[in-house]
Amino acid sequence: MKISKEKIVLTGDRPTGKLHLGHYVGSMQNRVKLQDQYDRCFYMVADIQALTDNANDPEKVRKNVHEVVLDNLAVGLSPEKTTFFIQSQIPEIAELTVLFLNLVTLARLRRNPTVKSEMKQKGFSDNVPVGFLIYPVSQCADMLVCDSNVIPVGEDQLPVIEQANEIVTKFNNTYGETFRKIKPVLSETPRLVGIDGNSKASKSLNNAIYLDDSLEEIKKKVMSMYTDPDHVHINDPGKVEGNVVFTYLDIFDPNKNTVEKLKKHYEQGGLGDVEIKKRLINVLEDIIAPIRARRNHFANDPEYIERILREGTIKARKAAKETMKKVRNATKINYTNL
Ligand code: TRP
Repeated sequence: MKISKEKIVLTGDRPTGKLHLGHYVGSMQNRVKLQDQYDRCFYMVADIQALTDNANDPEKVRKNVHEVVLDNLAVGLSPEKTTFFIQSQIPEIAELTVLFLNLVTLARLRRNPTVKSEMKQKGFSDNVPVGFLIYPVSQCADMLVCDSNVIPVGEDQLPVIEQANEIVTKFNNTYGETFRKIKPVLSETPRLVGIDGNSKASKSLNNAIYLDDSLEEIKKKVMSMYTDPDHVHINDPGKVEGNVVFTYLDIFDPNKNTVEKLKKHYEQGGLGDVEIKKRLINVLEDIIAPIRARRNHFANDPEYIERILREGTIKARKAAKETMKKVRNATKINYTNL
């Protein structure tokens, strides 16, 4: 069996809503960097995965396909370097998922920490749709179907990759060396706190700043950010740890020295919340303004989006068919080769 030596990147988003700063620092910036360093890159709109917990709302999923593509184009993913495709249009992924399902136990899926916490958050308990419970297996198929081996992700996805690598080992041991192990690539900031101080910025918690938020929205959100509840008067000494404004300044402010000085000042007392919030508003606007402008530019040209998705899907399908040929040979279901 021929094992590829190419370094191939694959990433994806569920099209369930617009993307936010948590996605940006968690994986999108890395995607943009990696597209210049690797032999081939794929970006997948995970619409089938989005349906695993939105089965009753296909319209929402469909509407958001263009939105997540726009977000990724806006931050600098380039169709010249990255192949954009839609998961549902690659039936090979479904086929591969079914074969992988035989190599995974129900108990192991229930132990997956990502699935566990998402099930809790969505209130599924025993009524979890099977499709949702097994999404790590179909994500494993996503990650392997185009022969990719490098996956830039946020921290929350690590258990999914760990499980995928178990499937790779099991498959290779059972049917012969076919797939490569997957390497996750984490960013320097794999998790961003929400503006309310909650440990994770997320759409469902309504505590995120979006990549197309207007200056007005940014202002409103930053002004409502969690700081130090005991910092009542300007002259009171304030706490920097757990203070979301400083957490964001640490991540987004290019001027680290100034941030250090501000922190000292805040801890000593004499620096007001409004002042540090104003600084953060400027810092975030500097980052988001060009993204917002590029997003608007692409949003005016839906035909362009359709075209890159169509051309990319044709390319990804070709890669997927080659993988499935190997898989069918390995699993001895290569009867007709139609
Ligand atoms: N589960 C990922 C998320 O929620 C989306 C996703 C689906 C993905 N398939 C993927 C990410 C393959 C990386 C690779 O963000």
